[in-house]
Amino acid sequence: MRVGLGADHAGCGLKDALAVHLAARGHEPVDFGTGDPAVSVDYPRFAEAVARAVAAGEVELGILCCGTGIGMSITANKVTGIRAALVHDATTPRLAREHNDANIIAMGARLIAPALAAELVDTFLAATFEQRHQRRLDLISGIESGRRGPA
Ligand code: RB5
Repeated sequence: MRVGLGADHAGCGLKDALAVHLAARGHEPVDFGTGDPAVSVDYPRFAEAVARAVAAGEVELGILCCGTGIGMSITANKVTGIRAALVHDATTPRLAREHNDANIIAMGARLIAPALAAELVDTFLAATFEQRHQRRLDLISGIESGRRGPA
């Protein structure tokens, strides 16, 4: 699977470790930067790059890393068609896929260990969306397309 990866300076080390992990498992990691953890950068730029690549179908799924994962998830969710989930334990990446059809996960490199992050990535890639939740996703799409007020 082609998987887009993005990070700021705080998430760069984790992002690089996850790229190695993905490649070792036969996936094709596509690195959207940043490349130098010593240089402070702005996380929205990297979140947007990965989110747009996922939305355009250039990569199937995305993985974003910053200090907490919060800024990355907030930013990615501004891009139409993106459902980015902030994940931190064994359950959240599975349910993000099964219930929310998340197409990006965000993680906090300052909060979780690289070994756990790799497990979360594996779980995310292995899980599949459960169609019974489609109605809720359609409601989200309705908000994106400008529907006014609760449906
Ligand atoms: C950078 O210091 C930090 O704010 C960023 O990595 C992230 O945690 C933001 O949500």
